[in-house]
Amino acid sequence: MHTNIDTLFENLWQNYLSVTPSAEKVHRLLGEGDTLINDHVAFRTFNIEKVNLDKLAAHFLALGYEEKGQYDFEQKKLKAKHFEHADTTKPKVFISELLVEAFSETTQNIIRNMVAQVADNASQQESFLYSGPHWQVTTEEYETLLAESEYAAWMAAWGYRANHFTVSINHMQHYHELAAVNQALKDAGFVLNTSGGEIKGGQEVFLAQSSTMADKIDVQFKDAVKTIPSCFYEFAQRYELPNGKIYTGFVAASADKIFESTNVAN
Ligand code: NI
Repeated sequence: MHTNIDTLFENLWQNYLSVTPSAEKVHRLLGEGDTLINDHVAFRTFNIEKVNLDKLAAHFLALGYEEKGQYDFEQKKLKAKHFEHADTTKPKVFISELLVEAFSETTQNIIRNMVAQVADNASQQESFLYSGPHWQVTTEEYETLLAESEYAAWMAAWGYRANHFTVSINHMQHYHELAAVNQALKDAGFVLNTSGGEIKGGQEVFLAQSSTMADKIDVQFKDAVKTIPSCFYEFAQRYELPNGKIYTGFVAASADKIFESTNVAN
């Protein structure tokens, strides 16, 4: 059963706010007298068939989205695709998947054991996209994953949900430049991700991006509670291509640094 696009994003947003309290504050700060439009919403998963990128993407394809780009992140051992809707006010969707077989046997075993706990057809439900973790790991398993892949550790703790929402600077009325938004955020006390510089990309690659560092939230692991990074908020400004059309793709080198917004420190 598929809801409509707006209902799905509202459900994703409420779920995201429940673990990202700062997002509500950012939304209020930037949204004052302005309707915020999302440039994109991002999701993470593993490339294990039961839960892979295509399983998540199917829900968006069913709502009229189309695949528009593919990306490789060799160092982080990830692949990603992005999807767009014909209605350009609907957020683009960026879905990545971790290449599980590229990791140590220990890490693979922890991940495969997690995914084994996902019910067989669970991913066919649209609500799977904001269903959180379908497993529980120990703090030791979390640390083991973290040592090899921040992404794997994040998935172990947070499971299925929007990893970030992204404000579209192009659609804002009170701000026209990403740098001004960054300044407003810093003035209000928000911490930005500085990995690869505060602004990743720029007019030369037709996309400039920045993000807050993820909130830190208490998570109940199998054996103990641990305070760890949850989700973050991103900001994107897109530029015109030589053909006069606004660039709608993603820039792998920038996204690579945006992934680090869920690092403990940067
Ligand atoms: Ni993003």
